[in-house]
Amino acid sequence: MTALAEPASERRDTAGLVARRLPGHALEAPFYVSDEFLALDLAAVFSRHWIFVATEAEVPEAGDYVTIDVGPYSVIVLRDDDEQVRALHNVCRHRGSRILHDAAGSVGNLVCGYHQWTYSTDGTLMHAGQQAPGFDKSCFGLKQVAVRSVEGLIFVCLAADPPADFDDVAARITPYLAPHQLRTTKVAAQEDLIEHANWKLVMENNRECYHCEAGHPELTCTFFPTYGYADDEIPKRLLPAHSRYLEATSELERECDARGFPYALISELSGRPTGFRVRREALDGAGESYTRDGRAASRILLGDLDTPRMGRLSLHFQPNSWFHFLGDHIVTFSVLPLAADRTLVRTTWLVHADAVEGVDYDPATLTEVWHQTNAQDGAFVARAQAGVRDPAYSPGPYAPTETDVEEFVAWYIERLKEYANR
Ligand code: FES
Ligand SMILES: [Fe+2]
Repeated sequence: MTALAEPASERRDTAGLVARRLPGHALEAPFYVSDEFLALDLAAVFSRHWIFVATEAEVPEAGDYVTIDVGPYSVIVLRDDDEQVRALHNVCRHRGSRILHDAAGSVGNLVCGYHQWTYSTDGTLMHAGQQAPGFDKSCFGLKQVAVRSVEGLIFVCLAADPPADFDDVAARITPYLAPHQLRTTKVAAQEDLIEHANWKLVMENNRECYHCEAGHPELTCTFFPTYGYADDEIPKRLLPAHSRYLEATSELERECDARGFPYALISELSGRPTGFRVRREALDGAGESYTRDGRAASRILLGDLDTPRMGRLSLHFQPNSWFHFLGDHIVTFSVLPLAADRTLVRTTWLVHADAVEGVDYDPATLTEVWHQTNAQDGAFVARAQAGVRDPAYSPGPYAPTETDVEEFVAWYIERLKEYANR
């Protein structure tokens, strides 16, 4: 569980760029295009912080697993024979072979295909043939990766000393997520999109809706395009949407109060290792779900919910994820860097475990809005990547609606500085 070494040759250049970052402005080009920054990001951010990798619904039974690549690491996330979620390094303790090769599957034991060393689902080495006398199997279990499930959202941390403030964050977001009972859902659909942009451009793009009005016609059927605007800054053309938003918000707050559901904004996106933002917010249209008309996409509501009109419980997590918990389904998003200019965005749609495909929900309707929105975002960030690579690029100022972008970048710069001073 050692962090990656920072590439020594670029230490001064990267440190200089980090030091001179102008608050309120986009980052300079090397942050988005250079392999040195990719290596630094993997070492300082992805190897040291809690990152979202999967949901419990992806590993419902003992032996079920998914493998996740984080830079050079491969992590096995699985449910062990005692039904606990574990994370293990996918590196054989004999000569290092990768043990599992598929992205997901189910195993009885973990058997390395090279010389058949065999591990139980908790990582214990059970069998290693033809060893010398005195060989102690108990010293060669698979290395464990720190793992936490918050209401069924699985986070891992590759560091030996994961940020301790995760406990506080988990305690504060749990009451928001709990009513949706993710642990009683199943995966209805999952989509991997490879976006041709640096992972930070992908995250920055997610943290604002400045581009939504023009760029996301399917999303803005229900997602108010006023996201990020202060009440007194709403452009005139968006005032009708804003009035609907205010009305829908009052109704949502009444419904939440009646059920004891929290909805107030908590925004601590920077200034702490585990930056996060949570809030329950109203949806436009029928106000139930992310569909063209805002009506629920699955007939079976989640958890014990007694109405589909619960808006969207939105959670943002630094560095790599965001979530929408709705009355009828949950959508999770994780972002993992593949190269300086290539990023995996994984979207997962979860419905109640009892919902029957084709009867209670139609996958095409369920996934349409975010399938289209992700494709549009993929095109936006690819264009941004092409632009920041251009010698003419210089960082411009963020608009007031881009506060959360600034928070993301501020958090990121804080993490790099802390890494440099460790
Ligand atoms: S490398 Fe896994 S058994 Fe030899
Ligand atoms: Fe977008």
